[in-house]
Amino acid sequence: MLADTKILHRSPLFDGLNEDAIETIRQALQPRRYPAGSLIFESGEIGEALYIVESGKIKIFRQSFGGKAKVLAYVHAGDVFGEMSLVEDRPRSATALAVAPTVVHALYRDLYLQLIRRFPRLAHNLARIIAARLREMNDEVVILSFEESKSRIAYALLKLQRHQHGKATPRGWAIPVAHHEVANLAGTSRETATRVLHALRDMGAIETQNGEVIIRDALLLEEVLYGLR
Ligand code: CMP
Repeated sequence: MLADTKILHRSPLFDGLNEDAIETIRQALQPRRYPAGSLIFESGEIGEALYIVESGKIKIFRQSFGGKAKVLAYVHAGDVFGEMSLVEDRPRSATALAVAPTVVHALYRDLYLQLIRRFPRLAHNLARIIAARLREMNDEVVILSFEESKSRIAYALLKLQRHQHGKATPRGWAIPVAHHEVANLAGTSRETATRVLHALRDMGAIETQNGEVIIRDALLLEEVLYGLR
């Protein structure tokens, strides 16, 4: 099963590359299927490949020494992950778990190194992906360090939406997420997350139902994020 060129066009890894280049890269990719609940790799393992997501959903997380899991990101179609070990030649920095049936395409280091000689744009695109993630992490460090729990929870919900976690519905962007997961992403207790989610619901920014948070008014959430509400 070769990667569908449509998903390659969707990925920022292939920005600015022409059809011939994309076709050559496509031939180097190896497909992998993972059922929901299966591990793709674990933190600390030797990593030889990066992955481009065709479909499904992957949770990237780290375990604290006390055994608590901290979700770093959810990854979806078009996204790239596993590039850090490939570039640095060091062990995996986090665990990747398929949380829905998932298809990814692996690009191994030796082929990546050959391809970037032919298509330097590929390496530039990967650098851009890593820079964007660092920029996002900087925002997150500032928000999670200094802002109140209300802002942190608004940030966590808007980040999930920005990363296309969930789906558009007539009522708004619906995110399948439990209160304790919102708490984990926002660095608060579950009780605080529940209290804040109720306050956000009462002000009309979100709805909560059956394990979902629906963003009714993203602009209002942004105002909460910046402390304007
Ligand atoms: P790697 O270290 O090879 O394996 C774990 C992967 O998780 C890592 O590469 C990145 O692709 C991804 N990752 C690590 N930290 C983050 C983060 N903060 N946000 C999004 N993805 C991450």
